[in-house]
Order: sequence, then structure tokens, then C-alpha cells
Amino acid sequence: MGKTYRIAVIPGDGTGPEVVREGLKVLRAAAQKFDLTLETTEYDFGGERYKRTGEVLPESGLEEIRQMDAIYLGAIGHPEVKPGILEKGILLNLRFALDQYINLRPVKLYPGVWTPIKDKGPEEIDFVVVRENTEGLYSGSGGILKKGTPDEVAIQTSVNTRKGVERCLRYAFELTHKRNKTRTLTLCGKTNVLTYAFDLWERAFHEIGERDFSDVKREYAHVDATCMWMIKNPEWFDVIVTDNMFGDIITDLGAMIQGGMGIAAGGNINPEGVSMFEPIGGSAPKYTGKNVINPLAAICAGAMMLEVLGEEDAADAIERAVMKVTAEKLKSLAAGKMGYSTTEVGDMVASLL
Ligand code: IPM
Ligand code: MN
Repeated sequence: MGKTYRIAVIPGDGTGPEVVREGLKVLRAAAQKFDLTLETTEYDFGGERYKRTGEVLPESGLEEIRQMDAIYLGAIGHPEVKPGILEKGILLNLRFALDQYINLRPVKLYPGVWTPIKDKGPEEIDFVVVRENTEGLYSGSGGILKKGTPDEVAIQTSVNTRKGVERCLRYAFELTHKRNKTRTLTLCGKTNVLTYAFDLWERAFHEIGERDFSDVKREYAHVDATCMWMIKNPEWFDVIVTDNMFGDIITDLGAMIQGGMGIAAGGNINPEGVSMFEPIGGSAPKYTGKNVINPLAAICAGAMMLEVLGEEDAADAIERAVMKVTAEKLKSLAAGKMGYSTTEVGDMVASLL
């Protein structure tokens, strides 16, 4: 008998429910094939619930989710809710409350997928970004003084703890070792300007690397140069590790070179706790309910969830099915231009398992 996993499902806003539906279809097909049981519990957190009740993430829901094996999330963000409320109240709140200190974002160009980078293909675009996910500029440290006056002051502080930086770096070194590609870990920072924050990152990087990961080659690139190399020579990267803010920015760039938000998946990982998997694009309100959004990012997030849960064969099978669909079926990864509906893409991936 295979294992049973309890999954909290948060379809969320906009096109979230549509892509989660296809993701679950594929996950269920994989579960059947690999003899796993997925027990799903759905939570209606998101813009609609907030508008109805004023609640973002109820304490009782959070306590239930703490007992689960993983969270599968669609999208958070509602056009009628002021920006920040849902993002902070649900997404960031879950990341922080569950101490999901790694944001894992693979940048992998699948066969048949168009990339805006000329003369680069799947051979050249295949790296992973490890983004610190609980500290930095996202910590909420700072404030506004003399608000609304001409003397107004706004301060937002990047918080970098030795513990937070070390655990993130360690995860990245282990991943680089395990990937076994070029065994190169690049620290992306800004040591020439952010001379406190990235001084800590850089020292910890070399200390840990030298002490415990002598088989991993260490590289360093400033964040602006990282953006440049991601376009010019993406093949130079194997694993990139960086702080929360830089990681947020460079992974949107990464999503574009791997074919867009239709395919980019991410995991908010607590290696010792409950992790959360999501397509990294937003709720795409204008496509909501039209059955045209690309579900592959959500499907890939589902595969990543299985991989992190330890079901690597099932995860690989989903990834192979996705690659077959991108290589042989889809005309484009963009919403409305795939040549198939959201439902049909989910059906194809599920049937190829
Ligand atoms: C992401 C998103 C979030 C972030 C927003 C919605 C708070 O952009 O997951 O990358 O900045 O982390
Ligand atoms: Mn982002």
C-alpha cells in the first residue's frame, strides 16, 4: 500500500480555481498510477471570502493546515481588494507562519516552448533559484514617521539573520550537490552597496561552502549582473541563491525566459514542516472563467509538491507528460493561444501519465 498525504487546497482568486482543478486532475491520475492516496481539504481563503467576512486567514484554518502534509495554492489577488491585503494576509502570512524559509523556483525551458532569448534552447536554460523566503525586505520591519507631512520619512529595513541566511545557503548547497549538474552555486547579491546585508551572506556562503561542500563550486554575481547573465548566458547558471527581494525580482525574469507565467512553478518550502506549492503567476482576473488560462504552471507546482513529499517517480512522470505536451501539442503557452482549453490541457497531461 502506498502512502496517504493530506493536502490543503487553496484555489484562491481569479483563475486560481481553474488551474487548481486541472492540477488536482493530474495529481489524482498520478496518485492512482503510483498507488498513493491524496486526501484533499479545500479552503476558501481569498478575495471573495475577504469581501464577505473581512477575514483573510482565520486562525482556526491556519491551525488545521499546520497538521497537513502540504498546501496546494492557486492564486491570491482580487481586483476589488486593495493591493497588499490578501498578499500579506494570506500568502506572506502562510509563508511566515509555517516558516517556509525556502522559495524554490526552477527556471527550465521545456522542449517546444518559445523563449524570447535568441539562439538558446532547453540545453541552455535549466537552472534553479533558491530564494530566501522569510526575511530581508519582506520582514515588515520599518515604519513611516510624520506621515502625510512634508517631513515624512519611510523606512523599510532588510532583516538578515545568521540563522536565516545559513539555513537558506545550506539548502542551496545541498540542492546543488544533489542536482549534480555543474555543481555550481552562485550567490546573487549586492556586496558593493549593501555592505552589511551581503557581507553576512558572503561570509556565511564561503564558510559553509568551504567547511561542508568542497565539491560545490562557489560563484558570486551582483544582482544587476545576474539579470544580465540570465539573458546573455543562462547556461552559466546551475543553482542561484539569493535574498527575498532579489529572488522575487529575478524569478519573474526567469519565468519569462522559460516561456512565461503559464509554466513557472514555485515551492514555499519548510524542509522540516508544511510546504506550499503554487504557480508563480497571479490571479489573471481578465481570463477568469473563460477556460483559456494555461494550467501547466499549476500542474508543475503539483509535481514539485510530490517531489518534496518524497514521491520522485510520480513527480518525474508528471514532468515527462508536461514536456510531451509542450513539445508536441501546444501552439503557445500564453492564455487563449494554446490551441486548447484549460480543461483539455489538463486532460492531455493526465492521459499521458
Ligand atoms: C511572488 C509574489 C509575492 C511576493 C507577492 C504577491 C507578495 O510576487 O510570490 O513572487 O512578492 O513574494
Ligand atoms: Mn513575485
